[in-house]
Amino acid sequence: MNRSGRRKVTVVGAGFVGATAAQRIIEKGLADVVMVDIAEGIPQGKALDMMESAPVEGFDMAIVGSNNYEATADSDVVVVTAGLPRKPGMSRDDLLKTNAGIVGSVCEQIAKYSPEAILIIVSNPLDAMCHVALKATGFPSKRVIGMAGVLDSARMRHFIADAAKVSVKNVQAFVLGGHGDTMVPLMRYATISGIPVDRFLDKATIDAIADRTRNGGIEIVNYLKTGSAYYAPSSSAVEMVDAILNDRKELLPCAVLLNGEYGVKDLYLGVLAKLGKDGVEQVIQLELLPEEQANLEVSIAAVKELVTKL
Ligand code: NAI
Ligand code: 2OP
Repeated sequence: MNRSGRRKVTVVGAGFVGATAAQRIIEKGLADVVMVDIAEGIPQGKALDMMESAPVEGFDMAIVGSNNYEATADSDVVVVTAGLPRKPGMSRDDLLKTNAGIVGSVCEQIAKYSPEAILIIVSNPLDAMCHVALKATGFPSKRVIGMAGVLDSARMRHFIADAAKVSVKNVQAFVLGGHGDTMVPLMRYATISGIPVDRFLDKATIDAIADRTRNGGIEIVNYLKTGSAYYAPSSSAVEMVDAILNDRKELLPCAVLLNGEYGVKDLYLGVLAKLGKDGVEQVIQLELLPEEQANLEVSIAAVKELVTKL
């Protein structure tokens, strides 16, 4: 919290995802923001530019940019987006070694200045970076959470709404597993206003949506060529920030350190979790059909392999 008593969020990485997330946080009035980056002048310039939009946009939250961590002290929530994004031909896993070094050093600084903060990790490869952050901070795992499921599920919800020609507000759907090609879109639980999605769409369409969801990240990379998605990723991270700051007890798919759920222990994996003021307040374990569990096992194996490489 700020000395003024206002809520405080640090965003590390003032690139596409970080700066857009910071903008969304102040425009929604969620908290004051400190944006940190190693690039000199970038966080300062972007923060000043955003402050100069305040009179027009009508928000009164404050944002400052910095190249060091003193200004981040006593943050309530920290969103870590520092690291390299993907380029065409690269998998998220290609980023492993470089981003592990960056995320590790960033998280040490965060733990030093904001020992009570809740961390939302965004940097890729997501599930592995959560392990790096957990180790570097020494925080309890309920305070180190990965953002991926909200994004993957948002993509899936958009694709369903588009195919069924209904408002996206009516669509509920979520994805389990790691943030990679093996993620498990749980079509059986996808609904339109509570009605199973297979009452609206045929099997071929549903299968195509599951496939497009799994490839949602690379679809954007192939368009942009110089980087990866950031509008939907920043919205997704900010939904988690909101759930935590406002103690919403919201059920959101996020990467959480499992403790026996789905037969997995000590591994970060995307599951439905209740987010509130304490971070992860509950993991919701679902009954899976044998085929769904088998798909999840493939995803678990992929995340394990990556974490082992660390
Ligand atoms: P970007 O390249 O626009 O921004 C990254 C920023 O991190 C740069 O400004 C860079 O200067 C900064 N940075 C690098 N090393 C740093 C350090 N040691 N300390 C502080 N800042 C540092 O990349 P973008 O598009 O913002 O993506 C950021 C990360 O988020 C990437 O790893 C990307 O793959 C990941 N991502 C993850 C998603 C998810 O669903 N989990 C979705 C979208 C992106
Ligand atoms: C995405 O899914 C790159 O992980 C990022 O867009």
